Amino acid sequence: MASTNIIEVRGLEKEYNLPGGQTIHALRGVDLSVRRGEIYALLGPNGAGKTTLLSILTTLLLPTRGSAAIAGFDVATQPAEVRRRIGVTFQEVVLDQELTGRQILDFHGKLYGRPRAERQARIAELAALVELADVLDRHAAGYSGGMKRRLELARGLMTQPAVLFLDEPTQGLDPQNRAGIWRYIRQLRDEEGLTLLLTTHSMEEAETLADRVGIVDHGRLIVEGKPADLVRALGADIVLMRGSGDSAAFMAQLQRAPYVAKVHRHAAEEVGAQLQIGVDAGEQRLAPLVHLAHAAGFQIHSVSVQRPSLGDVFLAHTGYALRDE
Ligand SMILES: Nc1ncnc2c1ncn2[C@@H]1O[C@H](COP(=O)(O)OP(=O)(O)OP(=O)(O)O)[C@@H](O)[C@H]1O
Ligand SMILES: [Mg+2]
Repeated sequence: MASTNIIEVRGLEKEYNLPGGQTIHALRGVDLSVRRGEIYALLGPNGAGKTTLLSILTTLLLPTRGSAAIAGFDVATQPAEVRRRIGVTFQEVVLDQELTGRQILDFHGKLYGRPRAERQARIAELAALVELADVLDRHAAGYSGGMKRRLELARGLMTQPAVLFLDEPTQGLDPQNRAGIWRYIRQLRDEEGLTLLLTTHSMEEAETLADRVGIVDHGRLIVEGKPADLVRALGADIVLMRGSGDSAAFMAQLQRAPYVAKVHRHAAEEVGAQLQIGVDAGEQRLAPLVHLAHAAGFQIHSVSVQRPSLGDVFLAHTGYALRDE
């Protein structure tokens, strides 16, 4: 596959067949391209298919349909070539905690056939990077959650991969530890030219860390782009309006208004609708919007003006809010 993209995914589908004969479509046709040296975040709620996608890209699972390649090597037919070029840290901590940090890193290097001198040099380098040098000879069982995550990160890097896959790298960490992990991740890209593909539920993580974000929901990549571009496409401000009545007529009016950039309509919990109206200047357009609603026969229950965020991008494309954590 001639391509400048280090990750190429085409029409990827994954079905899980459950014992009862039920089939779960975890991935429903994903296309994804990631350039060398990019930090790409897959953002999506529980069950969206993020871990499934990562498992296929890291050769742990076979796709049902479609293809995926890392550095030009197909994950299904050339898994050994793929494994030689990747590192991975999983969502759950999988360290053998009976071992010391140093033993864990060394064992991983051995697994990949790295010579002893190289392993020792790499361990020293990585322990310094993730700030574990002082505790490296203690059993991992005694590490804090943040230390275990950092050790996982170091392990993923033992074999100097071209692509590092991180499944929820900062799940369950306090803000200080998260910021630390983010710093290492950026440093790795800047200093080693590593490509990083990570998954997250956290909009903050996606926004601060990623060059590009892909929003995943129900097994599909719904929208992708630079966080700032995705946000900007919604308009300068968002007027969020809940109400009932003729929302279709109101929508039609809105789409004709010159100051409206974009409108998304979602069904609200109760009867009624929630409208996300992207405008050039929120405060200034509030009065004319209320007037339009009235004229169209749409009764406003509540209204607010806000600067758009990645959360609004998520709402615009999926119809529901992603809880940040
Ligand atoms: N081994 C499996 N067998 C059957 N179904 C599975 C299996 N693994 C995942 N699934 C299902 O596939 C869908 C996608 O799951 P996946 O773990 O990829 O989501 P995710 O985006 O990583 O979620 P989370 O944010 O909770 O980690 C879900 O409906 C899940 O229940
Ligand atoms: Mg997952």
